[in-house]
Amino acid sequence: MNLAQFARRGYVTEPTPLERLDNFSAALGNKVTVYIKRDDLLPGCAGGNKTRKLDFCIADALAQGADTIITCGAVQSNHCRLTLSWAVKEKMDCHLVLEERVKGSYKADGSGNNFLFNLLGAKSVKAVPGGSPMLEEMGKVAEALKAQGKKPYIIPGGASNALGALGYASCAQETMEQLFLMGVNIHTMVVPSGSAGTHAGIVTGMYANNTNIPVKGINVSRTKEVQEPIVHKLVCETAKLIGIKQEIPASAVDCNGDYVGPGYSLPTDSMVEAVKLLARTESILLDPVYSGKAMAGFIDLIRKDTFPKGSNVLFLHTGGSPALYAYTDTFK
Ligand SMILES: Cc1ncc(COP(=O)(O)O)c(C=O)c1O
Repeated sequence: MNLAQFARRGYVTEPTPLERLDNFSAALGNKVTVYIKRDDLLPGCAGGNKTRKLDFCIADALAQGADTIITCGAVQSNHCRLTLSWAVKEKMDCHLVLEERVKGSYKADGSGNNFLFNLLGAKSVKAVPGGSPMLEEMGKVAEALKAQGKKPYIIPGGASNALGALGYASCAQETMEQLFLMGVNIHTMVVPSGSAGTHAGIVTGMYANNTNIPVKGINVSRTKEVQEPIVHKLVCETAKLIGIKQEIPASAVDCNGDYVGPGYSLPTDSMVEAVKLLARTESILLDPVYSGKAMAGFIDLIRKDTFPKGSNVLFLHTGGSPALYAYTDTFK
């Protein structure tokens, strides 16, 4: 893959750490050796996966002459926090549209990411009911701004279009290079699967590099049957954008919907256990909505002997810890 053919802003200046988790592996009976890719430590306010995607999306916005970014997400959206964070650095205005997927969950003066929307100076935050057509809602904001002479650019939820997914195709390449230098051969890579850009980018990058390493997505909102075609469609679009000749089959996409619990952003006991276990063994913070549920799935799969005994398995930590502070009651 030649990803240097695409303009980016240079937000990702060096590889994120790839660490072996000895204490965590031991707590799970040393059935496998767990490694973690620390994308929670990416640059951008409080880190997390969206920085890799925004590196490409904001370059495109600037190339198109935009002075304003509009994006959307859930009420505790890490994507909104990071889009706002990079807009601040670029001296661009940023407007957020928040989908209240759980009724009553939006609080203008809420904690976690919500607090950071205000602190970082979002130009406007508009909450709309769950199920609202978010592209249309962002379009309305764009029209109003254009009428004021602004040049807005809309980034879709999670920056999960082909341009954004390039960030995770590049992460796959970066990860393979690190594993080579460390002399570590991994059996499987496990990633959270939400708006799909992260999962799709990793699958595209792993496939295009002929790694033969299976990628397991752990869903945070949808069933396996619904999520897999969404991820695969984005894989195909991303591969086309990069210019990958071979077709990436639907069988390269594997989503597990068993750890969503009662619904998106709603806590589960296994998420709480996963967040506590990683914090208390490795001093690494997950989040309650994405990386916590994905880790809960990963732990369960290890306990169920899904991976060969003694193998190396890699978890992609996509960040999100600011959301923990909006869930303190859940951890009491
Ligand atoms: C912390 C965190 N992890 C994982 C994800 C899921 O990534 P994606 O939306 O690319 O599937 C998100 C999405 O918002 C996130 O904020």
